[in-house]
Amino acid sequence: MKMHHIAIATHCIDSVLLKYQYLGYSIGELIQDTKRNVQICFIKNGDFTLELVEPLSDNSPVSAILKNSVQDSLYHICYSVENIEKTIENLETQGYLKISSLDFAPAIHNRRVVFMFEKDLGLIELVED
Ligand code: NI
Repeated sequence: MKMHHIAIATHCIDSVLLKYQYLGYSIGELIQDTKRNVQICFIKNGDFTLELVEPLSDNSPVSAILKNSVQDSLYHICYSVENIEKTIENLETQGYLKISSLDFAPAIHNRRVVFMFEKDLGLIELVED
């Protein structure tokens, strides 16, 4: 599995973009994901991609993470896979729990994504090639 991006839960995308730019990242467009109540911005530094995820309401998936942290905080690591159904099946035999439905991600060209949880590694996302 190849790493696709690392997602950071951020209190406010607007207030951190310039700081990332200063570190050499180029900034993508701001995308509203109304289904998950977040706004998202992908930023790139060479081959490396960060996904900044800001909650738009208290019931977004990142609100709980940020409630316990003054700083922005790791949200998930995403891996790209060829066959998402098969990978889900394989990871389930390794103790991973599928915690979302298989869905289309508006911020990643509507590719299919799923979230899985492992008790030691935490949250991962799979995105289909
Ligand atoms: Ni992601």
